[in-house]
This record gives sequence, structure tokens and C-alpha cells, in this order.
Amino acid sequence: MSYFYKQNLSGWEWYEAETVTSTNDEIKNLAVGNAAVVLSAVCQTGGRGRRGRSWQPVIGNLYFTYTLDIAPKELSRVVCLIGLSLAETVIAAAPQADVKIKWPNDVFLGGKKLSGILLENLSDTHWVVGIGVNIVAAPQLSNASYAAGSLQENGIMLDRTDFLRYYLAKFAETMQAYRDKGFAPLKKRWLELALNYRGRISIKQENETKTGLFSALDDNGYLILKTETGEERIVAGDLFITKEQ
Ligand code: BTN
Repeated sequence: MSYFYKQNLSGWEWYEAETVTSTNDEIKNLAVGNAAVVLSAVCQTGGRGRRGRSWQPVIGNLYFTYTLDIAPKELSRVVCLIGLSLAETVIAAAPQADVKIKWPNDVFLGGKKLSGILLENLSDTHWVVGIGVNIVAAPQLSNASYAAGSLQENGIMLDRTDFLRYYLAKFAETMQAYRDKGFAPLKKRWLELALNYRGRISIKQENETKTGLFSALDDNGYLILKTETGEERIVAGDLFITKEQ
């Protein structure tokens, strides 16, 4: 597999490959030592989504992965901060755009899914963060729970390299703010952008679906669901908007 070293992008060593199976797999060959490395690919032949779903390629869309050291107790907060950084990248390019974060970190634009994030662990503290952003077009998805949208169909003309550059700078800025001031101010901003915050939602988990009110995000980044039987802390699951009854 060959990569091209492109340039230093917002402090990251940026490599690009033409075609890979998945940038989440290939990064493991590149990310040796402590350098901040990011790998993007023009095309993925075996792109993976969450819960065993596939992530279909469209030339011109963005597929990239980087590695990150995250202490186990920080993980759920950092997961939210990655989504927040992606949402802020879109907002910086298009301040009037209808940008939402679906807990914990999918970004929605104009009511359609714009990006997805797949975190996979190499060890307890070493993670690969794989991100797909629909820049030019939404992929055709047969088994998707949500319609997919793209930047271009919303009139946002940012190319994949610019998006990557702005995102990496935004993520570094967000993580610095987290280290300096803690999670609270970022959580407040995250909630301003949260899809259906204080509304009725369902959380689909492996074996059950829970329905209730999206009442809060706790200090770990977990969702607090108010159900008929009380408040429940949701650590993982897929969020769906439920019609008011
Ligand atoms: C999701 O299901 O929402 C997560 C999608 C993650 C897709 C990205 S594209 C870059 C990286 N490589 C992969 O194989 N998956 C992630």
C-alpha cells in the first residue's frame, strides 16, 4: 500500500492514499511513535461504519483516520468533543447552516446525516478515530436509518482538503479548551447543537429500545433519558427522534 506524504496540516503529518480498504486499518502501519499522523484516502473499498454497517465511497468525499491517546475515563467526553469539532467546522464555513449533533457525535446538516465517526481501540488508551464526511454527495445507503446529505447539496463549497485542514485545527483548539477549562463550557455548546435535546427520543441498543425525554448530557458525555420509571444513564446506542404523543 503506498501513501504520499502531503504536508504538515495544522500541526499533523498528513498522508494520503489513493485507495485503501479502510483508513482505520491502514493507519496502524503509519502511526508509529508519537507523531500526530493523519491518513486520508480518496477511496475506500471496505469502509466500515458503526454496528457492522458499511460506509460507501463517493469520490470527492472525505475519509480520514488519526490516532489519539485517550485515558479510559475521558473517552466518552472526547467522543462528544470529536462530534462538536466536526459540527463547528461546518458552522465556521456556513454560519447560517442548520447543523445538529446527534448524540454522541454524528453531524446532521439540514436534517440529514453528513458525517460519521468510528472509534476503534488499539489498546486501553490508544484509539483510532475514523471519520467520513459527505463533501460532494450522499452515498446510496440501502440499510440506513437516516437519510444522508452532503455539504454540496446544501450549497457549502468546501473541498475535502480544506475540510480536513479546518477540522484538525478545530479539534486541536477544542481539546486545548477542554484541557484548560474542562468539559462544562464545551458541554454547554454541545447541548446548543444537540438534535432533539429536551425532546422525545428512542435509544436503540443491541437487544432493546428505550424511549423517553432527552433530559441532559452528564459530565461524562453520557445521555440522560427520562423514562416513565425514572432517569437512565445511556452509555451507548443509536438515537432516533420519536413523535410526540
Ligand atoms: C458511522 O457508522 O456513522 C461511522 C462511519 C465512519 C466512516 C469512516 S470513513 C474513514 C474511516 N474508515 C472507515 O472504514 N470508517 C471510518
